[in-house]
Amino acid sequence: MAILKIARMGHPVLSRTAAPVPDPTDPEVQRLARDMVDTMLDAPGVGLAAPQVHVGLRLIVFHVPEGRAAGGEGDGPVPLTVLVNPTVERLSEETALAWEGCLSIPDMMGEVPRALRIGYRGYDLSGRLVEREAGGFHARVVQHEYDHLDGILYPTRLADPTRMGFVDELRKMLAEEQTEAEPPAER
Ligand code: NI
Repeated sequence: MAILKIARMGHPVLSRTAAPVPDPTDPEVQRLARDMVDTMLDAPGVGLAAPQVHVGLRLIVFHVPEGRAAGGEGDGPVPLTVLVNPTVERLSEETALAWEGCLSIPDMMGEVPRALRIGYRGYDLSGRLVEREAGGFHARVVQHEYDHLDGILYPTRLADPTRMGFVDELRKMLAEEQTEAEPPAER
């Protein structure tokens, strides 16, 4: 088990486009994926992309724990998933706003619009095709992680730049607004 160092916003690896993984069954890729899962669970977070651990490859890991799934279509709990060379397709024009965190932007969160429904595909570590449709929180996690592979961090996706800040400050503000704020998931 290895906990990897997580790159923080400002490190150039986070703004580069990651390269395709030549072979998902390569033992080096397997080790990277295992270490990424350990790092994500230790953080703790619900998702992690390879550039966040200073590796410019198109590989993401994520899961949707029982307590985070909203239960809508495609939004049940999702077991630990490793996705190599993923692609994401938008299945709805409709977007939803929700608070997001990122392990590369500690202690902060922002309100980000994301497509409500997506389809995604990629390869697992045996080289088998994984193909799923996702909604709600599940769709949000995958879109957030996929963005990392194209060098995009959530602040560039904000609909309203004032809706980002430190979690403890925002919690106070949101309590005053009497808005029901979901705790942000670090990813
Ligand atoms: Ni992130």
